[in-house]
Amino acid sequence: MTHLWWRDGIIYQIYPRSFQDSAGDGLGDLPGITARLDYLAGLGVDALWLSPFYPSPDADFGYDIRDYCDVDPRFGRLADFDRLLAEAHRRGIRIVLDMVMNHTSDQHAWFQESRLDRTNPKRDWYIWRDRPNNWQAAFGGRAWTFDPQTGQVYLHLFTPRQPDVNWRNPAVRQAQLDAFRFWLARGVDGFRLDVFNAFFKHPDLPDNPPKLGLRGFDRQHHLYDIDQPEMMPLLQELRTLLDSYPERYAVGETYLATPEKVVSYCGPDKLHAAFSFDFTSTNLVYPWNPAWALQKIVAREQIFTAAGIWPTTVMSNHDLPRAASRYCRGEDDAQARLAMTLLLTLRGTPFLYYGEEIGMRDIRLRRSEILDPPGRKYWPFYKGRDGCRSPMQWDDTPAAGFSSGTPWLPVHPNWATRNVAAQEADPESLLHFTRRLIALRRATPALHGGSFVPLHGPAGVLAYLRRSEEQTILVALNFSRRDVRFPPPEGSWQVVFPVAGGDYPGQLGPQEILLAAKV
Ligand code: GLC
Repeated sequence: MTHLWWRDGIIYQIYPRSFQDSAGDGLGDLPGITARLDYLAGLGVDALWLSPFYPSPDADFGYDIRDYCDVDPRFGRLADFDRLLAEAHRRGIRIVLDMVMNHTSDQHAWFQESRLDRTNPKRDWYIWRDRPNNWQAAFGGRAWTFDPQTGQVYLHLFTPRQPDVNWRNPAVRQAQLDAFRFWLARGVDGFRLDVFNAFFKHPDLPDNPPKLGLRGFDRQHHLYDIDQPEMMPLLQELRTLLDSYPERYAVGETYLATPEKVVSYCGPDKLHAAFSFDFTSTNLVYPWNPAWALQKIVAREQIFTAAGIWPTTVMSNHDLPRAASRYCRGEDDAQARLAMTLLLTLRGTPFLYYGEEIGMRDIRLRRSEILDPPGRKYWPFYKGRDGCRSPMQWDDTPAAGFSSGTPWLPVHPNWATRNVAAQEADPESLLHFTRRLIALRRATPALHGGSFVPLHGPAGVLAYLRRSEEQTILVALNFSRRDVRFPPPEGSWQVVFPVAGGDYPGQLGPQEILLAAKV
């Protein structure tokens, strides 16, 4: 098997407004990312997925785009993007862009024209009707907003400031594919497709049937607003476009994902990969523990292996509470190490979220500080996604080395002790742990390409083998806070991580992680 960057490598997600500010305005920017490329190369990641940096009025912090083919002046200029791309490539790092094409901003020129009158050429670029159906917006309320100027309602699956485009219109399809062409021509390596399986709606817009659920959006079966068959030919067309360039990649954000649904959208003539978010849905009913994790892993292994589709692994992203906030007690990183080990040793492409390598925790905001639209709408039941979007913690200076100004969101109060500089100086830190595990993964074909074999472990222990033709690696994770005996499978085993050397001891300390190679 030849090396494929998106399959064998690691993709690091950057939320540009929170990574590094170079202008002193409190917002991260593209030159800021360029300035941190050596850090990212040193971490050992293969690609960066950049959340949106296009012109946007920020009704959904960049996920409402005003122009697909430009850079918002607050993040830099196109020339800054070209420089970031060239500097990343010089270090062997690829760039994956976030394409938000289910909807545009209401400030996009297309929508501005579309809402002018009922007969203008762009009217049909969006979805206008005389009356709403029963569809609900994911961020609360009805999915339709009345526009007095023309006396009709328009569809939006997210906020009213994010009107859904009409992908059934061939001119829209052309314009959207042109945006891909624009970035491909600049040398971009891949794309993350935002809520791609919502692009097409049923042509008759029937009401969704009801179902039990808490919020309006969850009280419907989403039969007609997502997952329509017209998506398949579009994915094929996109794939043909990507394949006309060498080694390009597309990963889809599957809306309301299940592993079965994910594999249906992937394949040699569809997406390369799509997210299934198997490990992000822990809660009081399904707590984070080895039995839960194993059941999730085995289920997805069966589905992805049978379909011949390469999985992705996600623990954290810009929409979710960070894994460290979900699983750790206070500042203790033991459970974050377990999550990191799963992320980096399961079969599938790991997506690492900025700051995950130092165990950043979510910030807590007062109601008046909340910026995220669903958080403002649903507080205190749901506090929104600002928590996981706080500035990257680089050092112990006042704004954590992120900015010389006032950051757009507060820095986490733990910044003075939890930051990159402090963890660089501590060989036992999560940062060193992560970097060593990434290096081991790169050097060990079984860990990135090998098959997955679950093992039967005692209570509290999750264990599995990763096996390639030439190697077998045992991964043993003790989630529990006590010593557990765990004899290895037959054969002799040499510990390779966290410190290489010595025989596998047959016993795991509290929350201990051991990787061993069969000799
Ligand atoms: C995706 C993005 C999320 C955004 C939404 C609407 O789920 O990940 O951040 O708010 O789409 O674009």
